[in-house]
Amino acid sequence: MSTVSIRELSDHVGETVILQGWLTHFRSSGKIHFLVVRDGTGEVQVVVRAGKTVWRGLENLEELEQECALTIEGAVRSDPRAPSGVEVDAVELVRLAPSPHYPIQPKAHGVDFLMEHRHLWVRSPRQAAILRIRARIIQAIRRFLDDHGFILADPPIITPAAAEGTTTLFSLDYFGEPAYLSQSGQLYMEALAMALGRVYAFGPTFRAEKSKTRRHLMEFWMVEPEIAFCQFEENLAWQELLVSFVVQDVLQHMSAELKTIGRDTERLSRVEPPFPRITYDEALERLRAVGLPLTWGEDLGAPHETALAEMFDRPVFLTHFPSTIKAFYMQPDPARPEVVLAADLLAPEGYGEIVGGSERIHDLDLLLQRMKDHNMDPDHYSWYLDLRRYGSVPHSGFGMGVERVVAWVCGLDHVRETIPFARTLNRVWP
Ligand code: 4AD
Ligand code: MG
Repeated sequence: MSTVSIRELSDHVGETVILQGWLTHFRSSGKIHFLVVRDGTGEVQVVVRAGKTVWRGLENLEELEQECALTIEGAVRSDPRAPSGVEVDAVELVRLAPSPHYPIQPKAHGVDFLMEHRHLWVRSPRQAAILRIRARIIQAIRRFLDDHGFILADPPIITPAAAEGTTTLFSLDYFGEPAYLSQSGQLYMEALAMALGRVYAFGPTFRAEKSKTRRHLMEFWMVEPEIAFCQFEENLAWQELLVSFVVQDVLQHMSAELKTIGRDTERLSRVEPPFPRITYDEALERLRAVGLPLTWGEDLGAPHETALAEMFDRPVFLTHFPSTIKAFYMQPDPARPEVVLAADLLAPEGYGEIVGGSERIHDLDLLLQRMKDHNMDPDHYSWYLDLRRYGSVPHSGFGMGVERVVAWVCGLDHVRETIPFARTLNRVWP
């Protein structure tokens, strides 16, 4: 007799199989008992009948608690009314482990309570579906990049200097030397692009951002492709291909999970290249027209991003920002040096910036000037400056925040549900 996952049960109709899982729900009606069992792949109803089922590990069925661990031997029967299409008639039921007073009951709990019990909350079908979609998104990102000749190359996580400005660094003591958790692998990816051509980083990044918004985590995962001999336009083309591939892949393969979480996928299905583009200047005009005026040189906030994104039916690139509000390494537009060849990709439906990228400065003197403008000490970046001394070429790259993409694709209110154990401003537990 074989052990079968709940997802595979429909391939075993008419057979007797073994299931392993946890009890999510229990109800009795006279001599018949209905158990809903989950195993991480899905849920199924198991029917236990006095006289037809033997049970072990417990005296009577009333002892079955939510989340107790079970193995069940039973016959698989098709049932068109069941969400999984099948039911199991139990022959034998073994309670492997009890679960007295499980804290998360099938009622509405507050978010703080759920986050406090995140180690258990992840068992709920909705949370498990989100984590499965997250895994699929990561797999799709990597598959796309691997299939297009990008080499996975891992930058360090412990770093000697800031990549994205010094205000959001987590610092640590590296045997008496100051060191920091990486905010972005980009500077190292630039070195690796000069070694390998097309590369990408995929790893955790850290920002001590004192912002308590539904989009910010202190620890988040970022994919960072970097491409040698690549200019601004080609950089945008890679981004729209990647984002479209990921969304279409999820729509195609995760329909059960999207249904579990109740995601309306109508707007996601329109995510295909080309994505619209507007410049920062155009954005300012559009924002003024809807009563959200900004002065040239001011950065956009979440309400501005949301208003702009609402004007389009798919993600929109915002380009040519004033250099003063962007990072030191961004290439100025030759036609208009006060703006940079950078783009933020804004997701629809109020999810804000999901990708940030740019062409990088490849001229040594210009880079030194920009570092001076940003009050940076070139000595802390001497290795990075070497990249401009030895065979420097135009190159570009971008960073996509995995949790922002998961939040958008799943239609979630907050990024805290997009990652197994979120690190937010006021929470490092559990
Ligand atoms: O725009 P950012 O800061 O860009 C960089 O770090 C570049 N060095 C990347 C590169 O070009 N290689 O961050 C990139 C993306 C954002 O668009 C957003 O999706 C995500 O990372 N992100 C965050 N996600 C969750 N919480 C935070 N605190 C985030 N900060 C950025
Ligand atoms: Mg950004």
